[in-house]
Amino acid sequence: MTVPVPVVIDCDPGHDDALAIMLAAGDPAIDLLAITTVAGNQTVERTTLNARRVCTVAGITGVPVAEGCARPLVQPLLVAGDVHGDSGLDGPRFSEPTVDVVPEHAVELMRRVLAEHPEPVTLVPTGPLTNVALLLTRHPDSARDIREIVLMGGSAGRGNRTPAAEFNIHVDPESADIVFNSGLPVTMCGLDVTHQALATPDVLGRLERLDTGLSRTCVELMTYFASAYRRLWGFAAPPLHDPVAVARVIDPGIVRCVEANVVVELHGRYTRGATVVDLHQYTGRPVNARVAVELDVEMFWDRVIAAVDVLGRRMR
Ligand code: RIB
Ligand code: CA
Repeated sequence: MTVPVPVVIDCDPGHDDALAIMLAAGDPAIDLLAITTVAGNQTVERTTLNARRVCTVAGITGVPVAEGCARPLVQPLLVAGDVHGDSGLDGPRFSEPTVDVVPEHAVELMRRVLAEHPEPVTLVPTGPLTNVALLLTRHPDSARDIREIVLMGGSAGRGNRTPAAEFNIHVDPESADIVFNSGLPVTMCGLDVTHQALATPDVLGRLERLDTGLSRTCVELMTYFASAYRRLWGFAAPPLHDPVAVARVIDPGIVRCVEANVVVELHGRYTRGATVVDLHQYTGRPVNARVAVELDVEMFWDRVIAAVDVLGRRMR
């Protein structure tokens, strides 16, 4: 039994963020120290309420939840109501959450948790990188407390919010630029790999057969998410982006990566927010990231479904 990896998730729930939180809380390979929220899929008020809802419905207690930045570093906030709905977690009906937030700002909670933990902590951002960028710039000493940053975001190919930019990076390119230039070990789980994590009818059937309140909530979340991806992009099944970053931390064998230079386009008239991934060393720029390229789909879904099952059974 390996020692669980200490993790802080920084997220913008968000249907896929919700499953990322459950995977991190339910898999024994992770020690989930804290959950911080950021504006992205919806306003930070709504992403924070959704994080509280997920913790409540999944029985995740004793993990501090803190609200973070309400807007990106430079540009105005763009939300994704077309994908995640007006609440940011449309689909299921949630009762009033019983999990509350801590009074600290997310960046302060991150700083404190990192400083107090006896070993370096892995940050798993699954939304825009505003909170992480502020942590690195306001509290540069925190960098020594970070083992690595394993993020969901970017793309070595096309985007999903503009032809060039993936949503998390597109919302706050300046923050992403700070993270990729931080000198810390960064792993980018972009659309190249997350589009392999498709919540197919077989996956939904496996979730349904768990027959717990939580698994039924997950099916409702995936059903809503599927309708958005069908309507907007013609996907037969929705890609569950964010849990891929958590899976990489759980078992690097689930997510194969290559080393590359990644820069964030800040000034392109048509390409701002693009992650420019030099997979073939054209530029001579130094490697600054691992880029995820392949998912072990079977291992991935086995871990996601097992985590939902563990949490769901506890709630019975
Ligand atoms: O592009 C997909 C990413 O944007 C995911 O993290 C999703 O939750 C949204 O935040
Ligand atoms: Ca997200």
